[in-house]
Amino acid sequence: MTVKHEPADAGANQAAPDTNEEHLQRVWNKVVGRRTFLRQAGLATAVAVPASGIAVSSAAAGSRNRAGDPTEGDFAILRFLCAAEIIESDLWEQYAGCGGQATAERPNDGQNPFYVSALENLDEDMPQYISDNTDDEESHQAFINAYLMSKGQQPVNLEPFRRLRPSPATGGGSKRVLTNLKSLSVDTSWYLRYRAETNPDFGATFGQAVTINNQPVIPVSDTETPPGDTISQPPILNTFAQQRMQAIANSAGFHFAMIEQGGSSLYTTMALKVTSLEVLRIVVAIGGVETNHFSLWHDKAGNAVADPLAGVTDPKTGTAFPNLNASGGEATQTNLILPEPCEFIPGLPACSVVRPTIDSLAGARAAVKALTMDGLFNGQSGGFFDFINRLAREADAAEREIG
Ligand SMILES: [Fe+2]
Ligand SMILES: [Fe+2]
Repeated sequence: MTVKHEPADAGANQAAPDTNEEHLQRVWNKVVGRRTFLRQAGLATAVAVPASGIAVSSAAAGSRNRAGDPTEGDFAILRFLCAAEIIESDLWEQYAGCGGQATAERPNDGQNPFYVSALENLDEDMPQYISDNTDDEESHQAFINAYLMSKGQQPVNLEPFRRLRPSPATGGGSKRVLTNLKSLSVDTSWYLRYRAETNPDFGATFGQAVTINNQPVIPVSDTETPPGDTISQPPILNTFAQQRMQAIANSAGFHFAMIEQGGSSLYTTMALKVTSLEVLRIVVAIGGVETNHFSLWHDKAGNAVADPLAGVTDPKTGTAFPNLNASGGEATQTNLILPEPCEFIPGLPACSVVRPTIDSLAGARAAVKALTMDGLFNGQSGGFFDFINRLAREADAAEREIG
């Protein structure tokens, strides 16, 4: 029989929405409770042994929480994460088509040399990183769907919602897309959040490091930004097209990091709800790669707001990239890309952690809200929002079970 582990005050918490602190405490109690259970079952070191070993040991202990024994909540989490990965794949494929690195495996990447040259001003390896990030997302969604099917579950399919027109610029391709990259409002508060000693899980809020509204992040017109143009090194931006393309590439740099920090928080938040060790392994292992992506893009975005690129302004939208090193303060210093230790567990020292990691800020519904506000789903159908919101509600409703 399944028995949900609840802290003594859980009933009171369920009656009214948690404060951030109450929510954290409730989640933490569950984590601690689960570890206590593992110790009692003689499995204190279970997390250090291979999955096959976990399965044998758990079965011997008589637990229903064996690796490979996901709950309905686990499946709901994986379904939402798979949808998120399909969405990530779609947007990264658009970036890669225009600005990636063509290889034997990905021959159609990097079709727009002007965009590539602007991205290379952020880092000469940008095209390779973009194609590799795209590869990763494609592997994530394919793996999670394969796992769902291996457990007798229906795969997640967003193909019916592939209805948006791609960019008409070179590299946009002809295939309909799920996500809009032609006009975004990129939330850049992550830049300030990861340099702060305060944590949004406890109510901290952060402004925008750069204001990016109604801004394309891929080329949108060959007339505006002819693909045969280029930007000479060091970056000299004399023409409308050069300034426009560099602003588009700089905006993409901030959007890359915005997407991947969201993935870092989402996976960390979902991990706290997982029951099966095998599903936990999947969520933690993929989540770690999202964080890896974020760290990379955090570094590259900083180059858009440091010399010699600082000062770029989009001549069409007015989006401006200031020099964030100009103030001399650590709050914006561009090479401080590793997360500053911040508030984490009340009463304990500051810790360098992923943040936020509570449902209201980093759960599945919060992720959908953030991507919607980004403009990523502009043009999508009501059916799409119904579908993605249902998956998000089901994932957020999942709870860690022990029995
Ligand atoms: Fe991913
Ligand atoms: Fe990602």
